[in-house]
Order: sequence, then structure tokens, then C-alpha cells
Amino acid sequence: MSKSTAQIRQAFLDFFADKGHQKVSSSSLVPGDDPTLLFTNAGMNQFKDVFLGTEQRKYTRAVSSQRCVRAGGKHNDLENVGYTARHHTFFEMLGNFSFGDYFKHQAIGYAWSFLTEELKLPKDKLLVTVYSEDDEAFDIWHKDIGLPKDKIIRIATSDNFWSMGDTGPCGPCSEVFYDHGEHIWGGPPGSPEEDGDRFIEIWNLVFMQFNRQANGDMQPLPKPSIDTGMGLERISAILQNVHSNYEIDIFQNLIKATADLVGTTSLDDKSLRVVADHIRSCSFLITDGVMPSNEGRGYVLRRIIRRAVRHGNKLGANGVFFYKLVGALAQEMGDAYPELNEQRAIIEKVLRVEEEQFSRTLERGMLILNDTLAELDGKVVPGDVVFKLYDTYGFPADLTNDVAREKGLSIDEEGFDQAMAEQRKRAQKASQFDLDYNEQLRSDLESVFVGYEQEQNTAQVREIFFQGESVNELASGDKGTLILDESPFYAESGGQAGDIGVLASETGDFTVTDTVKLGKAIAHKGIATSTIAVGDKVEAKLDGKRRHAIKLNHSATHLMHAALKSILGEHVNQKGSLVQAERLRFDFSHFEAMNKQQIAAVETMVNEQILANHALQTQLMGLEQAKEAGAMALFGEKYDDDVRVVSMGGFSMELCGGTHVARTGDIGLFKIISESGIASGVRRIEAVTGLNALQHVQQQASELSSISGVLKTDVSTVGDRVTQLLEQTKILEKEVTRLKQEIASSAGSDLLSQINEINGVKVLSYHLQGIESGALRSIIDDLKNQIGSGVILLGVANNDKVSLIAGVTKDLTQKVKAGELVNFVAQQVGGKGGGRPDMAQAGGSQPENLDSAIASVAGWLQERL
Ligand code: ALA
Repeated sequence: MSKSTAQIRQAFLDFFADKGHQKVSSSSLVPGDDPTLLFTNAGMNQFKDVFLGTEQRKYTRAVSSQRCVRAGGKHNDLENVGYTARHHTFFEMLGNFSFGDYFKHQAIGYAWSFLTEELKLPKDKLLVTVYSEDDEAFDIWHKDIGLPKDKIIRIATSDNFWSMGDTGPCGPCSEVFYDHGEHIWGGPPGSPEEDGDRFIEIWNLVFMQFNRQANGDMQPLPKPSIDTGMGLERISAILQNVHSNYEIDIFQNLIKATADLVGTTSLDDKSLRVVADHIRSCSFLITDGVMPSNEGRGYVLRRIIRRAVRHGNKLGANGVFFYKLVGALAQEMGDAYPELNEQRAIIEKVLRVEEEQFSRTLERGMLILNDTLAELDGKVVPGDVVFKLYDTYGFPADLTNDVAREKGLSIDEEGFDQAMAEQRKRAQKASQFDLDYNEQLRSDLESVFVGYEQEQNTAQVREIFFQGESVNELASGDKGTLILDESPFYAESGGQAGDIGVLASETGDFTVTDTVKLGKAIAHKGIATSTIAVGDKVEAKLDGKRRHAIKLNHSATHLMHAALKSILGEHVNQKGSLVQAERLRFDFSHFEAMNKQQIAAVETMVNEQILANHALQTQLMGLEQAKEAGAMALFGEKYDDDVRVVSMGGFSMELCGGTHVARTGDIGLFKIISESGIASGVRRIEAVTGLNALQHVQQQASELSSISGVLKTDVSTVGDRVTQLLEQTKILEKEVTRLKQEIASSAGSDLLSQINEINGVKVLSYHLQGIESGALRSIIDDLKNQIGSGVILLGVANNDKVSLIAGVTKDLTQKVKAGELVNFVAQQVGGKGGGRPDMAQAGGSQPENLDSAIASVAGWLQERL
């Protein structure tokens, strides 16, 4: 029996643990504090700072199995998935690491021993590459390991010099290759046939030695180190005696599950491989907090999901199917990654919602795309078509490309990018008038913020801006921006609104209408009521009442953030926050509307924390220390090394520079006033605190009590009364409809007595009273049925309008056309009409002529019948 993928992963971890390596869990796919990286793409990512020497760990050797995503961003394999035997959006990288502990010698020794002794790979199937100048590595492979020289290939290109990105740790590397055998086409690395599938790289040993700088300089690392990476899926393929990664156990089970779902029996379909690959990346990305959206990581996730849905569709999937694979994945990988089981419900929900949304436009988009492709002149789909599919039908460009590629075509990427850029420009233009020219200002000064403790202090004016220029003074009435050496005014940031107030000098006041950051300076925007100059002493006083209201809302935001996580789940992450005096607004990732119970539960939980009256604690600490303590930090946000941590009674702990209450009890009361969706997967809550919350509750109570007054019922039974009234209304509406029909049909039967005969044909020409024009059609249908053969013209006058209808039974339409008849009459009442030969309608504007017009019908018919 060959080893399962799970057993190989375990064997690797155990082998190196045995050799003194600390087992370290895989880090998140979202690199927390590395904005240079879209997704974690190598095992060494989480150790970057340890290699650089800026972070110390308790161990100097580590081993891990790291989940990686290579889609979007610099390393993008998305487009190739399905087409090759070894490309994945998601894969696991096995790695052993030395931080200034062992180096080349031992790293090579360990790798050899793991491959040939532990996994028992035949030695003659292995060959290696080394960096062309790395004689040391060459000698180790040759002399110590005993590999013949022709199995050690020197490579001069960057293929054998690994770096994490444009900057960061890097070094020469040595790669181990496996020879899948002569029956597969391909040549050894460095040969012209190296792109074939015969010789496959399985393990990369990187001898970390430098830190590449942005300008290209190579700074030596504090200590030479080791970083290795072996693709788990590749090594599993070898050990399971298969050639393609998609034939290993994990994938075969996922492919079978997919085939069962979509109802196909052929297991060798490109689309099955795509779906099996994509369910892994999508599920793990969601586990790590990424939600489908239209930008950044969220957009990559959305693209992968949509690609999977399209391929499912191609396979014949009936309705939404993709989310149903999460169970099969959890079964394959849930032991190694328990979060797949813990978060299964959420993953399924996110995928289902996204798939349902996309399915609505997929079909129409595919029709348009197929039509375009069928009519295409040449081999390139034009950029504006790609853009329209994106903009109207939600087709990411790579999805359109995927479809085009199946037909041997490609897309005009440049044209698409251009159309995108134009759209962006239009959007920017639309919002340009919001731009305050002051936002262009720059200051090199640094102001000290004293507003955590004080609301007033004495300070000196250090810089003044007027109409975009640095000036020496402002005259009375000038609008400008002032920078002080120190200030209690909070400059808008982290969602908290800037303070307002006054800067009082000996000669007069500068009224502050907003405070913002200009670099490290606190900039007070406002208007001068007397001359104010650089160097003046001022008394800076902020609006304390407003600041107080802001504090309540800010602290309540933290409590609510924690409550949302606890009630809705860990996937809730802040997407935006606005803290003002009147209310707070908070945007967060969540995939569906909150129900009433959830909203009430969040309110209760926050108010419980308010009642607990926790003392608020703020602490300055190192970023790492803060994260280890469990402080909530925002994805992608860049923090300084020293951060301020705000905690409330063990319930909430967040990195935050804002101003807060002293005790949670100060918040008084917390009430949510609305919950809505602002984008796919993003919800928005607005809430109020303190006296504003009380006022909100009072207002609602008073409205309720006026309603109960009008309904003459008790507040507690208002709901029942309204339901009762609505039911009554429904019954009455039904009754009205019934009565109307009755009136109309009785009017119809009364009319039978008004029939005349002209030349043996039944003729009815009549001015109806008290009938709405809308009822005419059904009256005339009834009449035609009742008389069997004849000509009818009816007219009604309501207000200033005349409505006419003419009906001719089919046997007579050769002689008389209803349209002509109705027109003949309509002309006499100032109107016009038309219709079919057997039924026609018209309007008019002269009710006073209706009777004579109706009377003229007999003469007109006389000539025709
Ligand atoms: N970090 C190295 C790689 O990704 C091992 O290949």
C-alpha cells in the first residue's frame, strides 16, 4: 500500500521534529502584516522577520506544512489550472527551516535522508541542480552524498536564486528533481526539453544569505539560514505511482465527489480538475477570513468561485452545486485542518450565496459570449466585449479568457485594461467635486497629541496654510489650516471624526470646523475671526460635549465588533468604520442580512458589557506582543512597531489610537437603528449610544403610542390590531371586486333589451351610465357571446373623457370592421381609435357629443349591412 497524502505530511513533520525542529502550524493565507504579499505563497512567509533578524523565536529550527495560494498577484497559476498536471491555485508546501542554526551541509543531508531512507525513493531516479557559482553545494552533493557529477547540474539563471519578492530574504538554491521515466517526454533541467513532464522538481533547498533592498543591493543576513519547500501534492504523486497530481488520493476523491454531483461518469475531464482544485482554494480562503468582493483578495476569491461555477455548468451541473463539495473536502483534509469542520457551515453559505448570485447572469453572459465568438473575425476577443461581460454579467476577464482558450482564441487584455481605466476615470470625475484642495497640503512638522488626558491646553502656532500655500498669517475672515506644536484636538483617523472647537489668541478666535492629519502634524481647519500669525500663543479648546458623544460611540464600536464576532462568527471583520457624535456606522464582512434575533442578541451583549462597567485599559506594546495577546488588528492595515491596545474587561481588545470612555458604563445605552447590505458580502450597522439612544427609543415609543391612539387600542396589542385590519381590508377588496363584476354583468343583461335590428342584423349602440371604462371589455365580450351574431358599440363618459368600444361578431367582420366603426364614432367626440376587426377601442374628449354620435351609428350601418 502506498502512503496517503495525510501520511506523507505526517512523516515529514515527524522526521524533522525528531531532528530537533519545532512543529509550527501553517499560518493564515492572508499575510497579516505584510502588505507586499497578496496571499501566503511559501512556507517561509511567516518566518520572514526571523530570517531578517528583526524577530526572535524560542527555537532555531522549525518544520511546517504551509497552505499556499498562488492566484492573482505575482505568482498567478489560476489560468493554467486544469490544463496541466501540476498547477494548482491551492497547495501545501512542506518545509524545514534553520534560523542561523545549520546551513548547507546539514540541509542537503536531511533532504537526502528523508527522500531515500524515510520515503525510500530510488537514488538513481534523483538528480539535482545547484546555482552555477555554488561550488560548495556541488561538492556536498558529489563528495558527501555521492551523487555522480552528471546528476548535478549547474544553473546560472534566477531559477536557482530564490527570492520571496522584489525585496526581502533571498539566496542561492539547490533543487531536487525526480525522473518519471523515459516513457514521458522531457529533458533534465537546463536542457532545451526541460519544460517537458519527465523531470519534475520536487524540493527546493534555499540557502538564505541576503536581504534584497528595493534598489537591488544585497545586504548579508545576520546569520546564514535555511528555507526549504516541497510540494506535498508532487511528492504524493511520486509515492502513489501516478504521474499527475490530480491522480493522488485527495484529488481523486474530490473529483469523484464532483462527478457524482454533476452526474458524469467520465473522470478524466479538465473541468473536473478545475472544480476539485478550486474547492480547496476557495474553502481555505474563506476559512482565513477572505470574502468574495470586487477588489483585492476578495476579488481573487470571486474569480476562482466564478471559474469553478462555469466549469460545473459545463459539466452539466443542475443548479448550485459548488458548495456541496465542502463536505467532501472536510473529509479529506479536516484532520490536518480542523477549521474546515469548524467553519464548514460558513464556507458553504458564502459559496452558495456567491454561486446563486452569479448563476443568474452566467447563462445570459454565456449566450452573448458564444454569439460573439461565433461571429468573431480573427482570433482575439475585443477588449470592449470582455469589459461588457465583466461589467454587466460579472464575468472576470480570466473567465472570458478561459472560455476563449477552449476555442483556440485569446482576449485583448490591453483593450480590457483600457476600458477599465476609462471607467475608473469616469467614477473619479463623478466624485471629484468632493475633493478639498487642502488635502493636497503637506507638512513636515510633528505635533504632540495631548488629547487623551486634556481637552484644553496652551500651544503655539507653528504653520499656517491659506488657499493651498504656506503663509505667515491669516486675516480676519480667512479660511485656512493651522498647525500647533501640541494639541488636544483629535485628527480624524481610524474612522473617528476630527474634533471641532476654538483656538483662542489674545486678539480673537480661530474657529476649528474639522481636524485632520497632515503627515505627523495635527491640522486644524477653520476660519479666523481676527488676525492670527505663526508664533502666536493660543488656548486650544475643543468642543467637549461633542468629543464626549464621540467617545461613547467609539467604545461602543469596539464592544459591538467583539459581539458581532461572537454572535455571527469569526469571519466578521471590520471593513469600514465611522465614529461621529450623533451615531456610529460600522461595515463588516458577512454574507446575509442579520435577522431580528441576531440584532437583538448583539444589542443585549453590548449592553451587558456596558452594565458590567469595566474600566477601560490602554497599553502601549510591541505589535507582535499585542497580536500574541489576542488584540484584534485589521487585515492589510500597516501598524507601527509600538501600538496602542484598548481593552475592555477581557471582552474586547483592539489596536486603536482613538479616544475612549473611562468605563464602559459611561456609554449608558446602546441601540442599533439599522442593518443593511452595502456590497456583496458586506453589511452595515448604524447605532446610537447614551442620550441619543434614549432619544431614539423614546421617539419610537411615542410613535407607537400615537399609532395605538389612532387605532384605539393598547400599545401591547397594536400588532394584533394591525394584522386584523389588514385582513379586513383584504376581505373588503375581494368584496369590491365581486360587486363590480356583478354590476357589469347586470348592466350587460339590461342592455339586451336595447338591441335593434338593421337589415336582419342585431345592432346595439348605447351610451352606458355609471360604468368605469375599464369594465367595457368584459361587458362587450359577454354581450357578443349572448347575441351570437351582431354589431355592438358602447360609449361611456367619465369626467371629461369619453371611452368607446366596438364589437363585431366574427361572421360579420367582412362587412363591418370594428375599427372603422369605432373611428367613425370617435371622430364625432374629438378622438381617434383602432383595433382588430372584431374588437376595437377609442377615446374622446367631448362627452357632450356622445349621444348624437351614438345615434349616428344606425345610419352608418344601414349602408354596410
Ligand atoms: N521558499 C522556497 C520556495 O518557495 C523554498 O520554493
